Amino acid sequence: MYILFDNEHIPHLIPLAEAATEVWPIRQRLRTQTRQAHEALERVALLTELAGGSIRLPRYRQYLQRMHSFHAALDTPLIGRLPAAYTGQRLDQSARLARDLQALGAETVPAPQSLCQAADALTRDPAAVWGVLYVLEGARLGSQVLLKRNAANPGVRQAHAFIAGAGERTGWCWRDFCGLLEQSAASHDAQVLTVAATHTFALLGEWLEDPP
Ligand code: HEM
Repeated sequence: MYILFDNEHIPHLIPLAEAATEVWPIRQRLRTQTRQAHEALERVALLTELAGGSIRLPRYRQYLQRMHSFHAALDTPLIGRLPAAYTGQRLDQSARLARDLQALGAETVPAPQSLCQAADALTRDPAAVWGVLYVLEGARLGSQVLLKRNAANPGVRQAHAFIAGAGERTGWCWRDFCGLLEQSAASHDAQVLTVAATHTFALLGEWLEDPP
């Protein structure tokens, strides 16, 4: 899917892939080893519909609700386990999702206990936390593509604080994160990072596909 989207990268994201290999070896390793997990996630129905640019409002609402409970479930254990180099303010996704749901007059839905337990298990190891953060931060890149594809979708235009994220600063934020990752995660077990990142993709995919 990376290849499919290569022609429509938003200008401020273009240099990221090229700059990656030498400057960011940990990121490059994560990118290569989670490629399949990313592709599998993109095949999830809610994300396919969103990427198609014409997702219907009830489905968009459901997407926002699921993403909100996913981030909320992760934020709870993550907040106390964040590496010193990573400020908690960066975890703004739940707040943005709550704002979007409010704009649509929809409720937030509490995460089920099974999801909270899985999120807790995923974030127990400091190396794993970096793997999880890689997925959460990288998701902002794909969101820029989703935002662009839904530029004419009235439901998404009405409530897009989450997918818009940092907007034109997304590339800068990503570079900043990759810098932190390389500096701070170098001493960690790369395998633990990769496994945690892969599990994060899978956990989100399962949660987005969980029947209502
Ligand atoms: C249909 C939905 C999605 C699309 C179309 C998409 C697309 C993309 C694209 C085009 C990039 C590369 C950006 C660049 O190199 O400049 C990217 C990177 C990334 N995406 Fe997605 N994405 C989607 C969903 C997600 C989700 C839901 C997550 C995680 C929760 C995610 C995690 C990542 C990560 C971690 C990267 C960084 C990979 C790297 O190291 O280069 N993506 N995505």
